[in-house]
Amino acid sequence: MNSPVGIFDSGFGGLTVARAIVDQLPGEDIIYLGDTARAPYGPRPIAEVRQYALACLDALVDMGVKALVIACNSASSAVLADARERYAIPVAEVVLPAARRAVRVSHKGRIAVLSTQATATSGAYADAVAATGVDLMTAVCPRFVEFVEAGITGGEELLGVAQEYLEPVTDYGADTVILGCTHYPLLSGVISYVLGDEVTLVSSAEECANSTYALLAREGLLAPKTQGIRRFLTTGSPDRFARIASRLLGDFVSTAEACEELSLEHVRVEL
Ligand code: DGL
Repeated sequence: MNSPVGIFDSGFGGLTVARAIVDQLPGEDIIYLGDTARAPYGPRPIAEVRQYALACLDALVDMGVKALVIACNSASSAVLADARERYAIPVAEVVLPAARRAVRVSHKGRIAVLSTQATATSGAYADAVAATGVDLMTAVCPRFVEFVEAGITGGEELLGVAQEYLEPVTDYGADTVILGCTHYPLLSGVISYVLGDEVTLVSSAEECANSTYALLAREGLLAPKTQGIRRFLTTGSPDRFARIASRLLGDFVSTAEACEELSLEHVRVEL
């Protein structure tokens, strides 16, 4: 089917999912929507995350996408069940694929998930692994999102913050760590440096891309005739979006557009 795939995140983190999807499916057209005007979602109450996320997903559906990818753990945790009921098209998300992979690769059954406050409060990862018998701890890392949204992925200040956030993870003895926020793969260098080589990192972005491929294949939605057109929409400033995105991901994003469909009024969606 020749319509684009709609990919959504609060800001820049979902670009890690978009890039992984494009690596696997270079012929697919994509529309990426980053709600940068309202990012970060992580510190917001779940009801608010739900409201913003559904407004963004509605906007993508109105643009005629053939499938939705919720490329944000905070939003996936808040709206997945609703989204699957609300839309007639298939919906991929980040939490379950990452949780499944972590359970498979962990040899000690001791897993840590790094996430935003919203994801931690939702209990989505704990629910996802509940039946498997693994031990799971959560470390909330809010400032990681701030660094990424500012285009910063290295430096002394970030290193200090990472050491502080990750100390409980090392004390816990996790052998597998889920990057349970799609912003965090952009910080995998510093996270891996602090945790050490013996800890396996599982990227929710990479796993989400794999499950998006599987979903499109299963539903017969892989596009034979598209041209790999990529559009990047933002609720904030397109110039800023393109500038920060290219700092984070090189030439993956060359230009960005304002999301006209998603004015601030549009956010007062009927739930
Ligand atoms: N990228 C998002 C996630 O996966 C959220 C970051 C934020 O807006 O706080 O949770």
